[in-house]
Amino acid sequence: MPIIFHKESGEFHLYNKEISYIIKILPNNQLGNLYFGKAINDRTSFSHLFQKKPRSLSAYIFDNDPSFSLQYTSQEYPSYGTTDFRCPAFEIKQKNGSRISCFEYQKHEIFPGKKNIKGLPATYVEGTHEAETLEITLYDKVMETELVLSYTIFNDYSAIARSAKFINKSEDTIVLERAMSASIDFIGCNFEMIHLSGAWSRERHIKKRKLQQGIQAIYSMRGISSAEHNPFIALIRPNTDENYGEAYGFSLIYSGNHLEQVEVDTHDMTRVIMGIHPDTFQWPLEKEEIFQTPEAILVYSGSGLNKMSQTYHKLYSKHLARGQWRDRTRPILINNWEATDMSFTEEKILSIAKTAKELGIELFVLDDGWFGDRDNDKAGLGDWNVINSKKLPNGIKGLAEQIDTMGMKFGLWFEPEAVNKDSDFYRQHPDWIISTPGRRASASRNQYVLDFSRKEVVDYIYSMMEEVLSSAKISYIKWDMNRYITECYSLGMDAENQGKVFHRYILGVYDLYSRLIEKFPHILFESCSSGGARFDPGMLYYAPQTWTSDNTDAIERLMIQYGTSLVYPLCSMGAHVSAVPNQQVGRTTPLETRANVAFFGVFGYELDLTLLTDEEKEKIKEQVAFYKAHRELLLKGTFYRILSPFEGNEASWIVVSEDKTEAIAGYYKVLNSANEGWRRFKLTGLDEDKKYIINNNSQRYYYGDELMNIGIVVEDKNLSQNGTDFSSAIYYIKCI
Ligand code: DGJ
Repeated sequence: MPIIFHKESGEFHLYNKEISYIIKILPNNQLGNLYFGKAINDRTSFSHLFQKKPRSLSAYIFDNDPSFSLQYTSQEYPSYGTTDFRCPAFEIKQKNGSRISCFEYQKHEIFPGKKNIKGLPATYVEGTHEAETLEITLYDKVMETELVLSYTIFNDYSAIARSAKFINKSEDTIVLERAMSASIDFIGCNFEMIHLSGAWSRERHIKKRKLQQGIQAIYSMRGISSAEHNPFIALIRPNTDENYGEAYGFSLIYSGNHLEQVEVDTHDMTRVIMGIHPDTFQWPLEKEEIFQTPEAILVYSGSGLNKMSQTYHKLYSKHLARGQWRDRTRPILINNWEATDMSFTEEKILSIAKTAKELGIELFVLDDGWFGDRDNDKAGLGDWNVINSKKLPNGIKGLAEQIDTMGMKFGLWFEPEAVNKDSDFYRQHPDWIISTPGRRASASRNQYVLDFSRKEVVDYIYSMMEEVLSSAKISYIKWDMNRYITECYSLGMDAENQGKVFHRYILGVYDLYSRLIEKFPHILFESCSSGGARFDPGMLYYAPQTWTSDNTDAIERLMIQYGTSLVYPLCSMGAHVSAVPNQQVGRTTPLETRANVAFFGVFGYELDLTLLTDEEKEKIKEQVAFYKAHRELLLKGTFYRILSPFEGNEASWIVVSEDKTEAIAGYYKVLNSANEGWRRFKLTGLDEDKKYIINNNSQRYYYGDELMNIGIVVEDKNLSQNGTDFSSAIYYIKCI
């Protein structure tokens, strides 16, 4: 029984082998938090952890008890202004203009399994034995509104899934002005905050800072989760590293505007809140209407950041990603974008596909430019029902058939959420873009965002995509989104409801994904947003893989993939080998290194294969064969970060099979230098007592403890004095 309710003390203890989470019904019937961390023994009461004492200047709840003030109490889902002055988890404007609320415990239910969240992505279980859920119902008498806080604890994961649901039971409309997915208070502030910061082509770089009194936050108000700030933060102890020490992860399953905020008060209490960004959100809730927040996943690790990441990796690849492609072998793809941009002919595409097939590649992806008058990014976007016959005289159908005949699968690029003004779509539906009446509509990449908060817009795009997808053998879609939302306003909503537009937009995106997946369950979706600007857990629910970044330079990718791996599994990260000099940074890296980095993701190529020398083609054949032989291990094994590219000239990581009989490690050295000392490269995650051989060399074996404590002797010629910059080595480690 992972959830226990102690009636006398009014305490809930959620626990499994790894974690404990303890909630208490406070004397005023609101909810307090007593603990979240490493699993501890259960007892009938943890009430000694609920501390209170009178303090000058503190406001208190009961006239006769000056010691009980919410300001000094760790809470579960706090409100503002009833003795607590910190930033709250929610705020509701009522008919009389007041924002004061008091949600009191009414009842609770504990049940096996986990419910879905209507219209939103969320983790799921396949058998009710996999998790247990606690739903606590609170009620505000004055507002006549119910609040249901939901907590799911998974049996085999150090994770708690949380969300909050508001139900208006009164005759009056109330306005949700803030409704976070989760809030938690910790005693003390001896933490560092980690977050994933970035921009186009530089996504998810790891940033770390010590918590200070006051507020530290990251957010997106760009309409989508953004390249700038991923919806994730971690709090770690100052001594925590990849393999030791405490780490708390907070990840939001959402693709729209978000806020992750840590507030440390002047008594060093730490409050974390995360959810939809309140500044761009206002949700009038009429009688009997329900609003449920997106889900937040809280993870605890007592063994460093690797363990935290592994929990997210396994949970997200097994209990968030869905459908046929969750477990199926992912195809090695060739994408034509960096090879041809939008300037291609059918002949060129077929010649790349033919070479790809000869090299063992399995899927051809036709990127932007196959529709409408799309010869550059100024025109055609939105005209999905018109195939560009100048480039593709036999249409998508004809091209797909020819690629199919070669024995390859065929995939297609779409950007369903945007239009160019120079398109038939826009000329027919100029009022379907997001823009504010009377104001300039700002362009970005010459395009405008369609108002997906309106059902008729989503319906129309669905019918266009459905037509194309039904017309040809298409087994993969790259779903792109190349701009942020400005001048947010919907002509489909009245003035009072404009605060709903950002959230409704994302619900529209989710709806389109759901409908397409239902109709075409065999299609593998890869999400994309100018590279990785919408690489978030919400997308993973629909599209099991995401294009990690437009930056395909191997050295830059070390940082991008290393940072992304903090939360996201390798099976979600699209990673391609591209041409040199690299399009984004002009760097020339060896073909080996480009593949040695891309192997640690969903592998593919993005260059004109027909321009390669025979020697390069041979190398690619070998790379493809290597990935095919090991992709199940690479995509499904346990991933450990070893050396951080953010901290030095080297980087490394390893994937280990569940039974620890096999592993593949990648070691990368950015710049070469003269006359270096000896190097040892220590591995992680192996079985100490097993005997392993490296790269099939049966002349010498090593015990796991040797490889982890002494390390591999680095002697590859490329990594030494007479080698090159940007060198790397792959070690295949096998138990004998
Ligand atoms: C941005 C994507 O990240 C690229 O891979 C490519 O698909 C272009 N858009 C096409 O316009």
